[in-house]
Amino acid sequence: MIEFKEPYFLLSTKNTSMILSFKRGKKLTCEYYSSRIVSIDEAPSLEKDFPFNQGTSIALDKENPSISEDYLKLELSTYGRGDYHDPSLILVGKEGTSIDLRYDSFEIREPNYDLPTPVPHDAKEELVIVLKDEKMGVVVKSHYLVYEEKDVFGRYLEIVNENDGEVIIKKASSCLLSLPNKDYVLTNLYGGWAGELNREDIKLKHGIYSRGSNAGLSSCRYNPFMMIHEDRHSINEGDAYGFNLLYSGNHLEEAELDTFSMLRLQIGINPLLFEKSLQKEDKFVTPVAILSYSSHGETGLSHNMQGFVDDHVVPPEWSHKVRPVVYNNWEATMFKFNKSKIIGLMKKAATLGVELFVLDDGWFGSRNDDSHGLGDWDVNKKKLPGGLKALADKADKLGLKFGIWMEPEMVNENSNLFASHPDWILHDGIHTPVEGRNQFVLDLAKEEVQDFIYDSVSSVLKSANISFLKWDCNRSLTDFAYMPGNHSYDWVVGLYKVLSRLVKEFPCVLFENCASGGNRFDLGMLSYFPQSWMSDDTDSYQRQIIQGNAALGYPLSVMSNHVAAKTSNQMLRLTSFDSKFDTACFGVLGYEMDIGELNGMETKILKSQIEYYKAHRELLQFGKLTVFKRIEEGNEGRFLASLNDEHMFGLFRKIQLPNPPEGRMVVDYPLDKNALYEYEERQESISVKKFGHLVNMISPIKLKEDGYLLNLLSHHMDMKSEVDKGMASGSALMNQGAFISQEWSGVGYSDRIRLMGDFGGRLYYIKKKE
Ligand code: DGJ
Repeated sequence: MIEFKEPYFLLSTKNTSMILSFKRGKKLTCEYYSSRIVSIDEAPSLEKDFPFNQGTSIALDKENPSISEDYLKLELSTYGRGDYHDPSLILVGKEGTSIDLRYDSFEIREPNYDLPTPVPHDAKEELVIVLKDEKMGVVVKSHYLVYEEKDVFGRYLEIVNENDGEVIIKKASSCLLSLPNKDYVLTNLYGGWAGELNREDIKLKHGIYSRGSNAGLSSCRYNPFMMIHEDRHSINEGDAYGFNLLYSGNHLEEAELDTFSMLRLQIGINPLLFEKSLQKEDKFVTPVAILSYSSHGETGLSHNMQGFVDDHVVPPEWSHKVRPVVYNNWEATMFKFNKSKIIGLMKKAATLGVELFVLDDGWFGSRNDDSHGLGDWDVNKKKLPGGLKALADKADKLGLKFGIWMEPEMVNENSNLFASHPDWILHDGIHTPVEGRNQFVLDLAKEEVQDFIYDSVSSVLKSANISFLKWDCNRSLTDFAYMPGNHSYDWVVGLYKVLSRLVKEFPCVLFENCASGGNRFDLGMLSYFPQSWMSDDTDSYQRQIIQGNAALGYPLSVMSNHVAAKTSNQMLRLTSFDSKFDTACFGVLGYEMDIGELNGMETKILKSQIEYYKAHRELLQFGKLTVFKRIEEGNEGRFLASLNDEHMFGLFRKIQLPNPPEGRMVVDYPLDKNALYEYEERQESISVKKFGHLVNMISPIKLKEDGYLLNLLSHHMDMKSEVDKGMASGSALMNQGAFISQEWSGVGYSDRIRLMGDFGGRLYYIKKKE
C-alpha cells in the first residue's frame, strides 16, 4: 500500500513500513524502514532532525543552513554538493559533475514490466518519485515496486537527459538505503568453481566494505545477494535486511558506515568501466534491486526472500509447479557415449522411477571433447543415428520426458560457426581474444548473434519432443570493446532479449540455468529459467554448504541437485548414496552417476529414494528452508523444510566422534505448541562393507575386508538403519526436542543405534496430527 501526505510517503507491506520524505530542502530521504507502523501521522516523530550543522559541514542551501547532504538519509546520493559518502549516482554533464536533485512530483501507477532487464511480476503498485536538477537538465525518477505479501520492495532509477548537451552516467546504483547502524553484521556469499556460496559474516566497521563481480557474469565470486543483521544469539531474532539485484552481469554492493553511525547500503551495476552516454531526451533505466526487512532475524528474512522468488521472480508458468525427477548423463559418460549407451541409461532410469532424461554435452557437431564443435548445433549422427528425435521417441515409449544440454552463448575456435563468423565473438579489435575452456564468447550485443542463438535453440527444441533445456555457460567474459553505451551491459541486455523470446515461444519447456554450476546464479537468470544447477560439486558435504547458504536468498524450488557416484568426482570423498540423497532431496532432485553399473542393492536404494521423494515432493520443492545449524561451523548440520503442517528435518554429521551427545530432534521453527506432531525417520541402507572386517562377528564364514565375497554380499544385502518414530507436541519439539536414537559410539549395532558415520545424514518427516 502506498499513502501520501505531504511531505511523506508511507509504503507498507504485510509486516514492514518505509517512510520516504522530501521535507528537508526537497531532498528525497528514507526516514524509516522497519516493522509495520500504524499511521503516516507517525512520520514526523520517526524522522531524523537537524538542529545545527556542525564544524566543517556544508549547508544544503540558504534556506536550510542547519542541514547538510552529508547527514541526510538519502535515497540516492550524488557528488559535489556537500555529501562526502561514496555516491550512488555519478553523472557528468557539460556543466560539470555536481548534481543537486530535488523533489518535483510523484505518481502512483500500475507497475511497468517492460524494461530492458527483468522486473519481478505481480507487484501491487508502483510509486514513481520525480527528482530534478533544473540547472543540469537532468531528471531522475526513483521507482518503488511494492510486493505486499512477501514484505519486499523493488527499486530502480530512470535517468533522463533533458539537457541540450550530452550527460554521461558513470555510476547508477539501483538502490541506496540509509539506516541507523545497530552494530550490524554483513553476510557475504563468496566462492569459486565447485565451491560456491560460502558464507562469511563481517562486523561492519567505519569505512566502506564493497564486493561484487567484474567477471561479466554475476559470477560465483560474490553472489549479488547480501544481508545485514543484528548480531543476536538466535537466528530468529533481531533486525535483518536483505538485498538482491535482477541482473546477471557485473554488479557491486557497498556498505558504508560513517562517523555518525549512519549506514549507507547500495547495490547496482558495477561502475567499473561502466559508462552510458545520454543525448537529449535519452534515458537509462537501471536493473531492479529488491530489498526486504524482517524483525525475525535471518530466518524471517530468508523466508521473505524464498517466498518472493517463488511467487514473483520465476516465470509465472513455473511458479509452484512441481518439477520432475531428472537423470543426467554428464558425470556418467562425459563426452564418451553413443546411442546404445544412452538408451541403456534411459531404460534403467525409467525402471528407477526417474521422470525426465537429460542428454548433456557432446551430442552435436564434432563435440567429442571440450575443444571442438561448440556453436554447431546439428546432431552428431555418427554418435546418435536417428538424431534427437529417435532418442526423444524412445524416452517417450519408456514413459520419460526428454531434455538436452546447450551452451548457446559460446563457440569453439574449432567449429563451423567460428569459421563462418569469426567476427561474432567478443573482441576489442586489437588483442587476440583470450579463451576459457577452449572457447570464445559470442557477442550478444549484436542483433545478428541474438538471432542466431534464438534460431539455433528454437530449431533444436522443435526438432523433437524436448521438454527440458539445461542452458550452460562455461566461462567468464573478457575482451569487451569500448564503444558508446556500455558493452558489458549491452551484452547482458542482449542475452535477456534472447531469453525472453525463447521462454515466450516455449513456455512449456523447463529451462535449467547453469554456468559451470553456480557461476551465474542470480535473480536475473531465474526470471527466465525457474531452476539452477547449483554447482558442479556433487559431494554431499559441499552441497550442504551450498544449498544451505543459498537458502538465505533463494527457495528450494530453484535448487537443482543430483545424487552422483559415491566417490565424488570433485572431492574424491566417498559417501553413501543415501547420504547424498539426504542432501540432494532438499530442492529439485536428480541423478547423474552411471546407473547402468548399479548392482541389485544400489538399484533398490535409488528406487526407494525416488519413491520417498515423490511422496514428499511439494514439501521438498516449495517448503521454506531454515538452516538452523550450519555444518561448516561445527560437526553437525540441521535443515528444516516447512510447508503448512508438514516438515522435513535433515540431520547431517561431519565426522563420527566417540562419546556422541544425546540425540535430540529440536525444531527451531514456530510450530503450534499445543498440537501433537508425528514424526518418522526415513530408514536408510547401511552397506555391510561399512563394518569392514567386523562383519565377521556375525558372518558364518570368514570375510575379508575389501574381499570379493564381502563385495558380492553387499550387492545383495544391507543393514538397516535405526527406527525412529513417535509423537511429540510442538512445545516439546521446539524446546528440549524429541529423543532420537543414540548415535554409534564405537560398539553395538541395533535398531536403536544411529550409525551415521563420516558425512552421514538422516531425514525425519514431521506432520501435525489432525
Ligand atoms: C558444466 C556443467 O556444470 C556440467 O554439469 C556439464 O553440463 C558440463 N558443463 C558439460 O560441458
